[in-house]
Amino acid sequence: MFWSFLIVTLVLLLFIYIAGRLKPKSATLAQKHVVVTGGSSGIGKAIAVLAAQQGANVTILARNKLRLEEAKTEIQGHLKPNGKVQSFSVDLSTNYDDVKKCVTEAEEKFGPVFMLVNSAGTSVSRSFQDLDASEFKKLMEANYYSAVNATKASIDSMVEQQAGRVVFLSSQAGQIGLFGFSAYSASKFALRGLAEALQMEMTPHNVRVTVAFPPDTDTPGFQHELQGKPKETMLISETAGLLKPQDVAHTIISDSLKGEFTSYQGIDGW
Ligand SMILES: NC(=O)c1ccc[n+]([C@@H]2O[C@H](COP(=O)([O-])OP(=O)(O)OC[C@H]3O[C@@H](n4cnc5c(N)ncnc54)[C@H](OP(=O)(O)O)[C@@H]3O)[C@@H](O)[C@H]2O)c1
Repeated sequence: MFWSFLIVTLVLLLFIYIAGRLKPKSATLAQKHVVVTGGSSGIGKAIAVLAAQQGANVTILARNKLRLEEAKTEIQGHLKPNGKVQSFSVDLSTNYDDVKKCVTEAEEKFGPVFMLVNSAGTSVSRSFQDLDASEFKKLMEANYYSAVNATKASIDSMVEQQAGRVVFLSSQAGQIGLFGFSAYSASKFALRGLAEALQMEMTPHNVRVTVAFPPDTDTPGFQHELQGKPKETMLISETAGLLKPQDVAHTIISDSLKGEFTSYQGIDGW
């Protein structure tokens, strides 16, 4: 009994050691091109600011031109001496060719994309019966197809460089389905399936994929989600607290650079 326990423990320790050795070394963002979808607001903007602080050249993509300009000015204030920032107004959810055109133009100016952070998205929280049927399609387009389009537009150059990082912003509601999130959870679960398959395909090319599962985070998007949120959803969400976008951004960038597949916040997320 003692000997079998010892052997199993030793094999486990050896496995953990080998798995640790196989992990890629943590990358850095200095002088690399980082593209952040939804970089004009909330978590995406906090990620763009952090990338700028770490020496990256940053491209932000979103639709509203005024908010993009304001975010660009804010990010400019965080750039390292040779750092650059640019923005493109595009609806990521609908036309792949438009997205590809923006990414190609962004790469012509800042070089091949090293890190793509898919933060563009939106949320509606209602009971299934109160949700309009059109909301399911809308959330799938904004949260899932936006990420598919931006990733397809960026992945070839990562494979060519044999280096890269792709991050998908799922949600705690993408780990488990929650009351009031039937449409939102489905779109965030879809990202997880996409990420798992993509990681398998990208491993030989040294491109690491990360899925982030943040809980409630204090952003304009979260404030919008509060409108019409069922009481039950409020009570469930309150148990996980409300995070600052800067803290979420820090965890996501750090996990992605380390090549972690999952990125979560605190004990709840784990
Ligand atoms: N805040 C939270 O509590 C929380 C928790 C877990 C996960 N998340 C996820 O984290 C991501 C960011 O959330 P957030 O709260 O930071 O949101 P936010 O403040 O509303 O920002 C969303 C960003 O996405 C852009 N966007 C939305 N739809 C787009 C489209 N079709 N094409 C291009 N850009 C689009 C928005 O700009 P335009 O409207 O100008 O296009 C904006 O820049 C989302 O995917 C969200 O689901 C958020």
